[in-house]
Amino acid sequence: MKLLEGKKGIVFGVANERSIAWAVAKSAVEHGADVAIGVQNERMAASAQKLLEGTPMKQFMCDLNEEGDLERVTGELQAAYGKLDFVVHSVAFALREDLSEPFINTSREGFRIALETSAYSFVAAARALEPILADDASLITMTYLGSLRVLPNYNVMGVAKAALEACTRYLAYDLGGRGIRVNAISPGPINTVSARGVKGFTGILSVIGERAPLKRPAEQAEVASTSIYLLSDLSKGVTGQILYVDAGYSVMGM
Ligand SMILES: NC(=O)c1ccc[n+]([C@@H]2O[C@H](COP(=O)([O-])OP(=O)(O)OC[C@H]3O[C@@H](n4cnc5c(N)ncnc54)[C@H](O)[C@@H]3O)[C@@H](O)[C@H]2O)c1
Repeated sequence: MKLLEGKKGIVFGVANERSIAWAVAKSAVEHGADVAIGVQNERMAASAQKLLEGTPMKQFMCDLNEEGDLERVTGELQAAYGKLDFVVHSVAFALREDLSEPFINTSREGFRIALETSAYSFVAAARALEPILADDASLITMTYLGSLRVLPNYNVMGVAKAALEACTRYLAYDLGGRGIRVNAISPGPINTVSARGVKGFTGILSVIGERAPLKRPAEQAEVASTSIYLLSDLSKGVTGQILYVDAGYSVMGM
């Protein structure tokens, strides 16, 4: 069954074939959507271009920390698609030292960079794109359990994810009057470029394999299929929620 037939949307955060965003974009196309992908800069654009060959997807370059980029890309998207039915925000960044040193040493600048890129960029994107969103559009972002629990070395990114989850609820309230829904998916650890930036990441993966109810980590494709549910009309009554796709790890007490 094609759940996104006739829908158009953009997926921000494609860096390479392992990116969660890429799994979501591919799955959205399989479900009949017309999909644009958002890439941060020319380096990402070059690697995404190879992925796009032979697909109907178009790419748009946009650094979500740049208001000018957001304004330009909104105009480009409007010209290409008219209204958008969905937006996927799969974007995060923190300084490498802030994902390995004790949290207490987080610099003011490192804190600003992590929060701006990983939480505020969702707000900025929602605001810039709002004029071209359809009245029943669906927006999603990607968060992580580090927002609620301490995961060693996740550090300032956990603080950013806590902010991102609160942003999800406030955006859901602001946009709900138009029927626009805003939700977050909380994937378990998945081997991607961003995840490998967290010191000790492979250790986290092996703990999940031992302790999660499903005895394995969740995969990109599973995050993608839950994304399709949230982007589709199947989830029309769902907004402001955090949905875990983590092989059940988050329910464990030990
Ligand atoms: N991989 C995991 O274990 C995991 C678990 C839970 C949540 N997440 C979240 O999923 C999302 C995607 O991460 P991923 O694991 O696919 O890694 P990834 O490195 O493939 O994707 C991160 C993306 O963010 C983009 N980005 C960073 N700064 C940006 C900016 N200023 N403007 C535009 N784009 C920018 C990068 O270009 C990249 O495409 C992130 O929010 C991450 O925190 C990942």
